[in-house]
Amino acid sequence: MAVGTATACAPSQGAVAPSSAAAAPASAGVGTSTGTMGAPGIGDPDFPSDGNGGYDVRHYDLRLSYDPSSRKLAGSATIEAKAAQDLTSFDLDLHGLTVSRVAVDGAAASFSRSQDELVIEPAQRIRNGDGFAVTVDYSGVPEPMHDTANLGRYGFIATPDGAFVTCEPNGAKTWFPSNDHPADKATYDFRITVPEGLTAIANGEMAGTPQTTAGKTTFVWREKHPMASYLATMTTGKFQVRTGTSAKGLPIYAAVADSFRGSLDTLFTQTGKITDYWSTVFGPYPFSSTGGVIDDYAAGYALENQTKPIYGGFSPEPAIIAHELAHQWFGDSLSIGRWRDLWLNEGFATYAEWLWAEHTGQGTADSAFRRYYENAADPMWAYPPGAARADDLFSAAVYNRGAMTLHALRREIGDQKFFPLIRAWADAHRYGNVSTREFIALAERVSGKDLKGLFDAWLFQPKRPAPVM
Ligand code: TRP
Ligand code: ZN
Repeated sequence: MAVGTATACAPSQGAVAPSSAAAAPASAGVGTSTGTMGAPGIGDPDFPSDGNGGYDVRHYDLRLSYDPSSRKLAGSATIEAKAAQDLTSFDLDLHGLTVSRVAVDGAAASFSRSQDELVIEPAQRIRNGDGFAVTVDYSGVPEPMHDTANLGRYGFIATPDGAFVTCEPNGAKTWFPSNDHPADKATYDFRITVPEGLTAIANGEMAGTPQTTAGKTTFVWREKHPMASYLATMTTGKFQVRTGTSAKGLPIYAAVADSFRGSLDTLFTQTGKITDYWSTVFGPYPFSSTGGVIDDYAAGYALENQTKPIYGGFSPEPAIIAHELAHQWFGDSLSIGRWRDLWLNEGFATYAEWLWAEHTGQGTADSAFRRYYENAADPMWAYPPGAARADDLFSAAVYNRGAMTLHALRREIGDQKFFPLIRAWADAHRYGNVSTREFIALAERVSGKDLKGLFDAWLFQPKRPAPVM
């Protein structure tokens, strides 16, 4: 799905490209198709080979079987898509793994591999506007990705009893063939088979009860709301599970690895409470369930996997749960169209931590803002967060200076405009793609103020902005 809309407004420096990269590539370059060959990238200027051009995915149907003892994954992925041009060939993203068969609309298709591109040539040309289904059968031992700057390993990470699967920004391709970029969101069905006794956790809600035959259990999960590929998970292992509903009646699924048994009830309770609270601040919760997973893989970080954030090897404090659950609105329901705009995810989620502290009487957002502002030597002043850098994507500047941008905006327009703006933002782009330009335009519309100077100073200048009064 490519539901992003480009609204007409004065472009601000560094925030000029449209966000609907799947339908309309962000800039001339790899996203631009040549003839009838789908482009090997979706058009993100900073991640030129991520995603693909020429089609728009509607739905992924993933049948997966994982054996922790051999670390072998076997999969059959059916991808339903719509052609955005005539296609004699197109790409999917896939990292490692061995492809045994590809079929397009039921007919065998030829294919080749080139780095992380799976190039598919259907027997018949696909016509612009036509729907088509491609099935890829594959298997192998998944290899995670590496980010030297911020994250270490990400993607499909084997653990002694299963797998810890957190894929931001482009690790979905370590376990299924995909249009691996948030500009092309789709719905998902997962059918995951693991040895009996283990639990397989994916996004959305479980369909039916897990079925066990011959020592293997199959879990069926369905995410019926559009989702970016990096938010998909198939986290597996030995888990303690608690299900129920929040005070407002939203279903909750909480799971913890055995060694975090003592944290299950807190995770369950806080998740329900915080999700309910955010729905009063940000507007209606966008999905059909909330939840959380604590695995015993010591990643040291968390990821906002849609409907079920995952915490890597630690019992999260409420502030972290507040961060990951705020992402359900900002990041998951509203997804960026290119990675440079990451502050729209991380600045908002970090600001949510400050709002949570304010709500629970642990210090105001203003005091957090001032603490950061006072440190004139903080390296974030040299890093403009409105242009997140591919080689340092998850920089602290994107998080903290991004959050400060929202606080500076709040001070400028007042709470009576700021909170309605945030709700209007979440509402206007629900399940879609967004850009910085669109946020600035909406902020100006809601407040009736010219805010270009404020956003330029906070997002795009490599120096500490002048003090906010
Ligand atoms: N988005 C995560 C957060 O701020 C951080 C993150 C980025 C991450 N990439 C990741 C976590 C990959 C796990 C795996 O909460
Ligand atoms: Zn975050």
